[in-house]
Amino acid sequence: MQLSDQHFQAVTQLFQQISGIKLTAAKRSLVQGRLQKLALEHGLDSIDEYVDGVMSRRQPGEIRLIVDRLTTNETYFYREPEHFEFLAEWLRQHRPASAFRVWSAASSSGEEAHTIAMVLAEQLSGIPWEIVGTDLSSAMIEAASQGLYPMERVQKLPAAWLKRYCLKGSGEYSGQVLVDRSLRSRIRFQQANLTQPLPDLGQFDIIFLRNVLIYFDDAGKRDIVQRVLTRLRRGGLLFTGHAESLSNLQLPIRMVKPAIYAPTDSHH
Ligand SMILES: C[S@@+](CC[C@H](N)C(=O)[O-])C[C@H]1O[C@@H](n2cnc3c(N)ncnc32)[C@H](O)[C@@H]1O
Repeated sequence: MQLSDQHFQAVTQLFQQISGIKLTAAKRSLVQGRLQKLALEHGLDSIDEYVDGVMSRRQPGEIRLIVDRLTTNETYFYREPEHFEFLAEWLRQHRPASAFRVWSAASSSGEEAHTIAMVLAEQLSGIPWEIVGTDLSSAMIEAASQGLYPMERVQKLPAAWLKRYCLKGSGEYSGQVLVDRSLRSRIRFQQANLTQPLPDLGQFDIIFLRNVLIYFDDAGKRDIVQRVLTRLRRGGLLFTGHAESLSNLQLPIRMVKPAIYAPTDSHH
């Protein structure tokens, strides 16, 4: 099945309006593959016909589905372990005096938020804590709220944590793990677009903003980081993906360690 230039432009423009992410010609075969799957699911054997239908009807549900399919949601438990090790050590040294709040700002299907929950459960006994996970994709938010994962997503998790915080499924759930309810009950997931005014999420001690900035140009990165920083408490920290650099963006932050930033005073 073919995707014409014109239809590729139409879809990527719509996607950019919503997500802020620009899909270049280099992503064309990926876009084509994902749209082809959607066309087939609708019983159509032409991608262009599917796109024409979406563009003329503009049904929010269908547009949301396209956005869900065109985002890259890859993630897993204990990804970039340095952040979790740093957080554990930081909590040992700065025992919070009040409720501790962490935001997983591009949570995808929730593996990052659930890993953070394990760190907090280990370090903060007796201190209240909560985690908020948000993502552009409502399909990812729905998956995250279930807390049910295929075994391969927990491969990198320390064995002791897997044992302590995950229930191995059997029968129809075999090959899957369910995160323990005691952790799940402290995590809330909701849809939020980082390129738009944010919903009222409150203030956070730590914000994870990992492996999402990579999809934006410098202006887009700066815009998102500035918006996200308004939700960081004084003395808080921002974690980005290790492949994402915030230097040269003229942001009011300083690097504490690779991919860990603290706001400079001018911010508050
Ligand atoms: C690769 S995942 C990162 C997951 C996790 N933070 C990690 O590091 O493993 C990127 C996520 O960013 C989300 N995303 C993309 N654009 C977004 C936007 N404008 N607002 C909020 N989330 C967005 C995607 O839906 C996707 O789930």
